[in-house]
Amino acid sequence: MSQPHLRTVVVLAAGEGKRMKSSLPKVLHPLLGRTLLGHVLTAAGPLGADRTVVVVGHGADQVREHLSEVAPGATPVLQERQLGTGHAVRMALDAVPDASGTVVVINGDVPLLRPETVQALVEAHEDAAAAATVLAAEVPDPTGLGRIVRDVQGQLEQIIEERDATPQQRALREINAGIYAFDAARLREALGKLSTDNDQGEEYLTDVFALLRDAGEPVAVHCAADYVETLGCNDRVELAALRRLLRDRVNEGWMRTGVSILDPHTTWIDVTVTVERDAVIDQNTQLQGATTVGAGALVGPDTTLIDTVVGAGASIVRSHALGAEVGPQASVGPYAYLRPESRLGRKAKVGTFVETKKASIGDGSKVPHLSYVGDATIGEYSNIGAATVFVNYDGVRKHHTTIGSHARTGADNMFVAPVRVGDGAYTAAGSVITGDVPPGAMAVARGQQRNVEGWVLRKRAGTDAAEAARRAGEGEPDVGGAASEGD
Ligand code: UD1
Ligand code: MG
Repeated sequence: MSQPHLRTVVVLAAGEGKRMKSSLPKVLHPLLGRTLLGHVLTAAGPLGADRTVVVVGHGADQVREHLSEVAPGATPVLQERQLGTGHAVRMALDAVPDASGTVVVINGDVPLLRPETVQALVEAHEDAAAAATVLAAEVPDPTGLGRIVRDVQGQLEQIIEERDATPQQRALREINAGIYAFDAARLREALGKLSTDNDQGEEYLTDVFALLRDAGEPVAVHCAADYVETLGCNDRVELAALRRLLRDRVNEGWMRTGVSILDPHTTWIDVTVTVERDAVIDQNTQLQGATTVGAGALVGPDTTLIDTVVGAGASIVRSHALGAEVGPQASVGPYAYLRPESRLGRKAKVGTFVETKKASIGDGSKVPHLSYVGDATIGEYSNIGAATVFVNYDGVRKHHTTIGSHARTGADNMFVAPVRVGDGAYTAAGSVITGDVPPGAMAVARGQQRNVEGWVLRKRAGTDAAEAARRAGEGEPDVGGAASEGD
């Protein structure tokens, strides 16, 4: 019944990660768009495992909940007490008694691991029909890691933890990356023989290698091409270092596909983002979540886009957007804030100091300056005057404003929702629009101007203003008189 290549993936994620000093379990810390655990699961994805088991313990509820979001097919297995990596794998295998073929075990804290590397490890393991294969790497600084100890023939003898190692063994720079392939049956048998005879009094998964070797089983070492992939994360300093390394990898990937990144050191792109050719990402820019940037778009400098879709040829300068859609050739900023469900059509514009939310701004329509557009639909080719507020909130509920196409609304308007402005309508500057405006009408909704002539000379005699007024009045006694005619 058992098939040679049936695969089970076991991810070890029960540890607390004490040195993170966090209420969040270590494996849930985010790194450019995925949690540490999410990265590991992604790296294992292409193996096409029949089953994925994640050993949870510290913060088990949080980790389970996260799994249900990112890997609903994975089975969480509880390791109540963290009695070591060997114990953790034992718990995992107990939960899948029928597991056969290859078991791949991955520490939950190696987020830079590439799928190709895991695949190469598994292929080497299966090709060699080994009982166990460990991924190893030569690292510049092996501090804290398990060392690969080889015999005179260069064959793996044992994996020794630093704290249990002799000074000679500590000098070795070939380390255990915490990623392994095992034959299920032989792993199960060896796990049953693990002792806790070590400095931490734990069951070490790594001891399986010496046990198998002593039993005459073939064990192997597979070397990672790039040690960076094997770097683990034990504290926030290491997390920051991993983030920089991943940033560089991601940026390099996009530059090689034809994206310009003007300052790669200040550009942080989540692994979940996509960017099309000839887009230009200017400095100090973060692209996060489900963001996509279309061909030839310009994003940045100083811009953060979260779950935002940017159309081809659009430009977004010094702005912040969350859950927005920016149409092709649209223009945003400088200093705009697009909130969820903001939708800009082709060549639409949201300019400087403008905030939008649940707002659909049609093709070619513009909101150029100092405005709030919330719960609104604006048709095509309309212009919204500077300093306009869509008054969407009555203190209890939100209401909608609809502006038609080719409308021209004056500066400093309030649209008190619910209200509609028809196609081709105008509104006067300074209007508070509380009633619908029919298509083609001009709405004026403001106090009439009244000039009280000579008031300053009478009421503010002796001031600089009065003096200026007097001077102005001397040469032209009628000045202001014409302006007051409409009073
Ligand atoms: C482990 C290896 C070490 C290797 C290093 C690579 C052992 C004994 N040592 O050491 O050789 O160089 O990883 O990073 O395996 N975990 C559980 N349950 C437990 C203990 C740990 O699920 O009872 C999980 C942790 O959450 C973590 C992973 O196993 O994801 C590794 O545990 P950790 O304590 O970080 O092991 P290291 O000391 O780093
Ligand atoms: Mg570790």
